[in-house]
Amino acid sequence: MDKKYKWYKIADSESELHFGPNNLLETEAGGKRICIAKGEHLYACAARCPHAGGIIADGFLNDSNIITCPLHRYKFSLENGRNTSGEGYYLKTYPVKTTEEGVFVGIEDKGLLSWLK
Ligand code: FES
Repeated sequence: MDKKYKWYKIADSESELHFGPNNLLETEAGGKRICIAKGEHLYACAARCPHAGGIIADGFLNDSNIITCPLHRYKFSLENGRNTSGEGYYLKTYPVKTTEEGVFVGIEDKGLLSWLK
């Protein structure tokens, strides 16, 4: 099914995103705390780990776009949120797009009116 997204601007350009040395940062989009990762592309995911609330932006990103939570070191794919270390959790991911107007994170539009369109 085609998901509808509402796009929230997080920066005027990619160069305005101030990543830490681990290529991760935490920001806000659409009222949600979001972690932005600079891997092969820009990725966005929930700021807190689904296991026990670890701060994902304090984690580690590898060359395969796998993020490791700093608390118990569970690993998640930023491509699809899959828990690649096998504990059975799912990290919420969000689409990111960069246009001339800025960098945007897409949050699924579950508003009351979304099903009327
Ligand atoms: S809180 Fe992230 S692995 Fe436990």
